[in-house]
Amino acid sequence: MPQKQRKRVLVPSLSGMHDILPQDQGYYRKFQEIAEKLSSLYNFQRIDTPVLERAELFIKGTGAITDIVQKEMYTFRTKGGDWVALRPEGTPPVVRAYLEHGMISWIQPVKLYYFGPFFRHESPQAGRYREFRQFGLEVIGEKDPSVDVEVIALSYNIVSKVGIKKLIVEINSIGCKKCHSRFKKNLVRYLEKRQIGLCQNCRQRIKSNPLRLLDCKEEKCQLLIQTAPQIIDYLCQECHNHFKNVLEYLEEIRIPYNLNPYLVRGLDYYNRTVFEIIEEGDKKKTTLVGGGRYDGLVKIFSRRDIPGCGSAIGVERVLNKLKSEEVKTEQEKPQIFLAQIGELAKKKSLKILEDLRKANIKAEGALGKSNLKSQLSIADKLGIKIVLILGQKEVIENRILVRDMKRGQQDLVRIENLIPKIKKFIKKLK
Ligand code: HAM
Repeated sequence: MPQKQRKRVLVPSLSGMHDILPQDQGYYRKFQEIAEKLSSLYNFQRIDTPVLERAELFIKGTGAITDIVQKEMYTFRTKGGDWVALRPEGTPPVVRAYLEHGMISWIQPVKLYYFGPFFRHESPQAGRYREFRQFGLEVIGEKDPSVDVEVIALSYNIVSKVGIKKLIVEINSIGCKKCHSRFKKNLVRYLEKRQIGLCQNCRQRIKSNPLRLLDCKEEKCQLLIQTAPQIIDYLCQECHNHFKNVLEYLEEIRIPYNLNPYLVRGLDYYNRTVFEIIEEGDKKKTTLVGGGRYDGLVKIFSRRDIPGCGSAIGVERVLNKLKSEEVKTEQEKPQIFLAQIGELAKKKSLKILEDLRKANIKAEGALGKSNLKSQLSIADKLGIKIVLILGQKEVIENRILVRDMKRGQQDLVRIENLIPKIKKFIKKLK
């Protein structure tokens, strides 16, 4: 989980990119375990796509005039001359893989999930990084509204099960191309009359991408947006029915939602349902999950009309919340510490440690130290309850001292009996 850099080093990490330290690994592990288990219950299968893709995939897929492509994509030319990008999001790569591997011939819809790092050159701030992880879901090959609801429900349940209990789905329908033409005309007319009240960015977008203005976070734009025409009033019959069903199904499975007529999302491929999941009562409205339907995306790359719908969970954003709410994860301690005295014992310790680990026992030693007191102090700091002590005499006698640190009892055990003895000991401690 992103940590502030504390110490100055000669070559520091890049701004917005973070180490995941050992004490935070438990959060990521817990997240991944829950997310993968739930996804599997919903019959999603894992897919991994490369971190590096042709830049064109995102220019065409995510959209040439989106912020992601225009401002945030890490791109470069390879020595072979390819123009490539560090993936800023996962949907176009999954669609590419769907087409490239002939998933069209699989049972439809194909339900996939992914977990990995993504890269966007955004201004780093709390919850916004240049390298971050997403857990994404994509369902390709089915247009029924039940799919939208399954994606929302699974995303919702993952974040909830990880530990953020009060969630709300912000939802809207942005219709289809048919609905857009009439809506855009009216929206542009409304905005043009009020240009002076808009931020510089939005003024430029009036013609190129007026819909994106609707989720501008600038206060002065927000004020104007509140009285702007709403897309929901311009939906064609099919889009209207689709959205009505999505809302009814959400009610059926008791997923709380809030109809947000100004939610449009910043990626070009969306149509019909768009949604975000936030924590209820979060004043900053940090988006934990974003997603929606993308029925036209496959067609961009294959001319085949295949619908899709998906979402992505911002893993750091979820884990930051858990951490701030002090949901603890346990760091697994070693079960055994092996202390040794003398060269002969040190050599033998290597073999004993190997055998313990082969027997699935988490064991630690400090073979770089020779002083018994300093080794026992490490064991104490690590909070290890069973310590093995091996000296020259014990090696010659083929025995080892097993000390129960809690009770202060100790036992001399033959080395060949050590593993069963320790397994019994561990069982007793549980
Ligand atoms: P997105 O809204 O761009 O959608 O990202 C999804 C989630 O990733 C966000 O809600 C947020 O939690 C997290 N996220 C985005 N940017 C950052 C950042 N700079 N730092 C930390 N977290 C971030 C997509 O990426 C779509 N591909 C989702 C999707 C899948 N739609 C359909 N299928």
